[in-house]
Amino acid sequence: MRTVTVTLTGAAGIYGGLVLYREYFVKAQYTGNEQLFGKTAIVTGANTGIGKEVAHDFARRGARVIMACRDMKKCEQTREKIVADSFNTNVACRECDLSSIESIKRFADDINQNEKSLHLLINNAGVMWHPSKLTKDGFEQHLGVNYLGHFLLTNLLIEKLSTCSPSRIVNVTSPMYKRGQIDFDDLNISKKVFNPKIAYEQASLAIVLATQEFCRQYPGSGVIANCVNPGITRTEIARHTIDKSIISRVIIGPALKAFMKTPMQGAQGVIQCALDPQLEGQCGKYFNDMKEEAIAPNATNEKEAKRLWLISERWTRLNK
Ligand SMILES: NC(=O)c1ccc[n+]([C@@H]2O[C@H](COP(=O)([O-])OP(=O)(O)OC[C@H]3O[C@@H](n4cnc5c(N)ncnc54)[C@H](OP(=O)(O)O)[C@@H]3O)[C@@H](O)[C@H]2O)c1
Repeated sequence: MRTVTVTLTGAAGIYGGLVLYREYFVKAQYTGNEQLFGKTAIVTGANTGIGKEVAHDFARRGARVIMACRDMKKCEQTREKIVADSFNTNVACRECDLSSIESIKRFADDINQNEKSLHLLINNAGVMWHPSKLTKDGFEQHLGVNYLGHFLLTNLLIEKLSTCSPSRIVNVTSPMYKRGQIDFDDLNISKKVFNPKIAYEQASLAIVLATQEFCRQYPGSGVIANCVNPGITRTEIARHTIDKSIISRVIIGPALKAFMKTPMQGAQGVIQCALDPQLEGQCGKYFNDMKEEAIAPNATNEKEAKRLWLISERWTRLNK
């Protein structure tokens, strides 16, 4: 009995120590106090996780915030919390399912026709290690939601962003891009055995390649685009992996939590990339833990980026 008590006390102590460590040492926080009155920001996947914290932060700074979500009920619940906490009523929910070209086009049309301005586009929504499933338009889920959906959205909103320049796009990605490969012969991973890890890596790499290509496609537009890795953050992103079983949810999940950032901490790099005046004019960069990091060699091939861009235009029927 005594051994059990000592073990449990020791484990609790270590766990508490890790939580304190995370709270006081890992928490790099963006300290800029830029105000956003008169500015409009779109945040995709803003109903939970990192996107929710980014939307919340922008609302506190006075922005008009458009929460682009696929589930209007969840969106509205979060919107109410953000409004109550920030005292900013200028926060709106708009439907945008990034797995559907039709939904993205409807959303972008609404923004282009009805919003006076647009200064910030935060391409945050995403899935990780999703089981094999095609989007409504027949794209592999990671490629379709994390990359192609945001590719289309960005291109449909570029004129609006450019008119309101200087404006910024932040593309949230993952360091898994470094292990990624773009399989041009099988972008949908349908010819080989499906591996969700490989699908997530490919989509993460596609985001980094396309962010750099964006800067070459739209020079002089007054719109900059950069990539951010939020770091390992305890959100709902693991819903298709460790959060699936009860044991994971009850034991592994909480244990891992001690090592992870809170969603608010995970959001800091995104907020910095959207607001930091020192980043003005910087385009196609990758930020990790709020510091710029050299892009890995597998993501610097211009030819590959251009090829991916052209395929993405065709697949999303951008020019029709
Ligand atoms: N958390 C991490 O450790 C970590 C690490 C590296 C990179 N990231 C990246 O950070 C971003 C935010 O993730 P998170 O950690 O905040 O995860 P999360 O809590 O799971 O949030 C993901 C958001 O994306 C939305 N989403 C998923 N599929 C969508 C679709 N088809 N259309 C529109 N929205 C959709 C979700 O909406 P529903 O709630 O309706 O599903 C949710 O709002 C992702 O791009 C992720 O890849 C996260």
